[in-house]
Amino acid sequence: MNTKQMAAEQAVQYVQDGMKVGLGTGSTAYWAIAKLGERVAEGLRITAVATSVASEEQARGLGIPLLGFGEIGRLDLTIDGADELNDRLELIKGGGGALLREKIVAMNSDRMIVVADESKAVPKLGRFPLPVEIVPFAWEWTLDAIRALGCTPELRKSGDQLYRTDNGNYIADCRFGEIASAQQLADALQRIPGVVEHGLFIGIASLAIIGHSDGRIEVKE
Ligand code: A5P
Repeated sequence: MNTKQMAAEQAVQYVQDGMKVGLGTGSTAYWAIAKLGERVAEGLRITAVATSVASEEQARGLGIPLLGFGEIGRLDLTIDGADELNDRLELIKGGGGALLREKIVAMNSDRMIVVADESKAVPKLGRFPLPVEIVPFAWEWTLDAIRALGCTPELRKSGDQLYRTDNGNYIADCRFGEIASAQQLADALQRIPGVVEHGLFIGIASLAIIGHSDGRIEVKE
């Protein structure tokens, strides 16, 4: 079992009968959805919403009951991966491009558990370029405004096309280097009108489960 799978499967133990669950996106969340699918096949009764088209398709294929956002109400628990996390459980997310849906789902959950392998745990956020979802309209101006905050933003590509999120927007991957204050940066990004959402998750995750290559599973609160 790989370190991502170890962390993801441990997180699925927090899912109880009757829960409403948010399904994350990415190669670690994949293992959580796979394990949930197994538990549903064994009789676990849950309902779920997904944070991306890819996770929705995976869940549907495994027979995990999916509901619409208007039907399910507030979620009990969301399990999702991260690109980086620090000791304060501040995260960078969006490497897979699903940050907006991931944040909406996580913030409508009583609890978010982040699952990751040890490479994602860092003393300071910022080595991973911060994904920022922006509207295509006047993207050049939005990029200028983001650049003025002290980074080198680069529009994400998919082959020779610009990458589009599930919401039809662009992603700017922003190299800030070490981020001194995630909150200050989040506030500044939110003030830019073309920014839809950014990949800083602050005060959202309440538990991190980290798989180590020596077989240890670390739980951080
Ligand atoms: C998707 O948009 C991301 O936020 C992922 O959750 C994050 O990139 C972690 O992905 P992996 O588990 O694939 O590393």
